[in-house]
Amino acid sequence: MASSQRPSYGLHTTMRPLSPSMTAIGVAALRALYTRMPAPLGFVRDPFAARLLPRPLGALTAAVRGRPAVASVVHHALRLATRELSLSSPLRTLAIDDSLRDSIAAGARQLVVLGSGLDARGWRCAELSTVSVFEVDRARTLAYKRRRMAGMHSLAARHVYVPMDFARDDLARVLKDAGFQPEIPTVWLWEGVIIYLHRDAIASTIRSVAELSASGSRLIATYTCPGLGIARGPTLHLRLGARLIGEAVHGEISTRALHALLESHGLVADHDDPVNAWASRVAPLADRMSGPQWERVLVASKR
Ligand SMILES: C[S@@+](CC[C@H](N)C(=O)[O-])C[C@H]1O[C@@H](n2cnc3c(N)ncnc32)[C@H](O)[C@@H]1O
Repeated sequence: MASSQRPSYGLHTTMRPLSPSMTAIGVAALRALYTRMPAPLGFVRDPFAARLLPRPLGALTAAVRGRPAVASVVHHALRLATRELSLSSPLRTLAIDDSLRDSIAAGARQLVVLGSGLDARGWRCAELSTVSVFEVDRARTLAYKRRRMAGMHSLAARHVYVPMDFARDDLARVLKDAGFQPEIPTVWLWEGVIIYLHRDAIASTIRSVAELSASGSRLIATYTCPGLGIARGPTLHLRLGARLIGEAVHGEISTRALHALLESHGLVADHDDPVNAWASRVAPLADRMSGPQWERVLVASKR
């Protein structure tokens, strides 16, 4: 398959560039910070995270570079203000990277990043050289991302942007239109997205993922159970903040309900752990987390 230097749109090529998802900016800003912090805080390796941010914010993240005292203040202030969501979010990226590498080693040749936001895996993961990458998100976020990454060389065998809304559009149709091949083993990432979706959109996305998955395909997803993390009183400010920026939290789902939904479509959970537990395998910093277990990382496969 021909290598593409610049990701292409699978459809809607004349979209107006608009502002990206604010939550996507938030998690990319955390990756940029924890990439730029000096050791031992600099546990993330995402050299593209700062570039993907709006320029003033990207520049601000440079303040922690080479300054251990500033980095430590920023780290502790963010931990306190977000009840460790600031740590949980970049840690989940590490955990997912680990699982993604396993999936590619096991034979996945397509990667679909559901709600890709400002995820830079297509540019930073050398393992993707034999893999076609499909980035799925709202048109405005993908249009912004395309602009910010113009001229950057994707490491993927093929890299396609697929604009759609999980609540309105048909994932199977837009992916097939973009060149996705259901017979090829696929790894699906759904990182930090379920929490923003209503149950109908969660269910229809899982149905499409299952329908489009060849045997051995994997879904790697993060989710939050009701009563956990962002749903709790002490973190009400985060929930209200999400509503204020137009990305309200709707999608808490219990482990039992999520597994049942997956199983009804032939997807079986192989692992399901709190982010901290996963991440401590790849980042010792995770052991020092004492706050709520915000999110879980689930890996399910198609039998
Ligand atoms: C918190 S961000 C996570 C982005 C990325 N997965 C990451 O971890 O860096 C949530 C992403 O989900 C996308 N999203 C939320 N609801 C969506 C919907 N209904 N349709 C398409 N994308 C959606 C947002 O645009 C945003 O990019």
